Amino acid sequence: MLSVFTKKSNSLTKRCQSDEFTRLRKKYDVYYHTFERQDGSRVWEDGREMIMLSSNDYLGLSHHPRIIEAGKRALDEWGSSTTGARLANGSRAYHRALEEKMAAFLGKEDCQVSSAGYLSCMSAVQAFTQKGDLILVDRNVHSSLWAGIGLTQAKVERFAHNNPADLAEVLSFEKTGTPKMVVFEGVYSMEGHIAPIPELLNASQDQDCFYVMDDAHGFGVLGYEGRGTADHCGVTSQVDVICGSFSKSLSSTGGFVAGSRDVIEYLRTHSKQTIFSAALSPVQAYCASAALDVLQEEPEHLSRLWDNTRRYKAMLDELGLDTWGSETPAIPIVMGSKERAYRFWKLLREHGIFTVMSIAPAVPPGKDLIRTSISARHTDDDLAKIGEAMAFAAKRL
Ligand SMILES: Cc1ncc(COP(=O)(O)O)c(C=O)c1O
Repeated sequence: MLSVFTKKSNSLTKRCQSDEFTRLRKKYDVYYHTFERQDGSRVWEDGREMIMLSSNDYLGLSHHPRIIEAGKRALDEWGSSTTGARLANGSRAYHRALEEKMAAFLGKEDCQVSSAGYLSCMSAVQAFTQKGDLILVDRNVHSSLWAGIGLTQAKVERFAHNNPADLAEVLSFEKTGTPKMVVFEGVYSMEGHIAPIPELLNASQDQDCFYVMDDAHGFGVLGYEGRGTADHCGVTSQVDVICGSFSKSLSSTGGFVAGSRDVIEYLRTHSKQTIFSAALSPVQAYCASAALDVLQEEPEHLSRLWDNTRRYKAMLDELGLDTWGSETPAIPIVMGSKERAYRFWKLLREHGIFTVMSIAPAVPPGKDLIRTSISARHTDDDLAKIGEAMAFAAKRL
């Protein structure tokens, strides 16, 4: 009988065996932890209860009864999957309903949803650019935007993170007639920084730029009822494309790209990521749609989120921890080296707090950090326990 475990040896299997990232993952046993149970802000691993302090469930809606009920209804009404791409056999009424609802909420004419934020953000860059164009990108943007950039043939120039003066300088060396795209995030997922959008627009407005903003971490968190970073800055009409994810504040999965009718119509025939990938599942679409209703009808989640954020941030500041100037519920604790980050992560875990360690190259060199994020779901008791654990870990380090 043929064994599936027969060892093969060639240059690519050898690369897998000697890979640096695999070695680091084994050295720092912080990734791929598997929880056997989850309830609100708590998770259980090997029977041990911990407070989750690194989820993107900012509004704490993942167990909301209205959203659970919507997910069950989706299965009853539509089954488990469309098993097809939107362009072919996968378009359903609930996709269009969600797209219209999202567009109206964001203040855009139209929207296209996909099965992952990663795909949507990739397509928001890749679909609109071609050879001869210029992409100007903030150095610190998310991997999904770099993946989109990697697929275009446009020329790429980076500008310093959240630095409109640098964007203006980079632009000053470029020809005026070239079609240009400026790519940035509304809220930076690692740093928790808010993009200075009005200043970025001012720095580039005489160059006829097309603006793409990934608002995965601003959507549901900033702006009126959580409409996001462009709304927060009062510049929705000037940002051509807003893309993002349902996997954060809307506690589902899937992604979206919103813009003018013409722009989204163009996307439908130019986005490889959606043309060749199965459509958003019924359950995820129904859950995202229900969460969008909850966002607008139950403002208490957003106010609790910001209340918790302020209390948590004040606690970290008092302990003298470096939070990289975060202004949002995504709050890093910068440790400066992998070893220090690992020790801090372990100390927190010993105290029943689960966080995520982010090390270079996911963050700039010297910025190895613990990524924490606060949720509306954290209780006063959670905050007290988090405070004790942080004080202990900070003192030990
Ligand atoms: C800024 C940003 N954009 C896009 C994504 C991708 O979203 P999703 O998890 O829905 O694929 C993420 C997820 O981590 C993100 O942080």
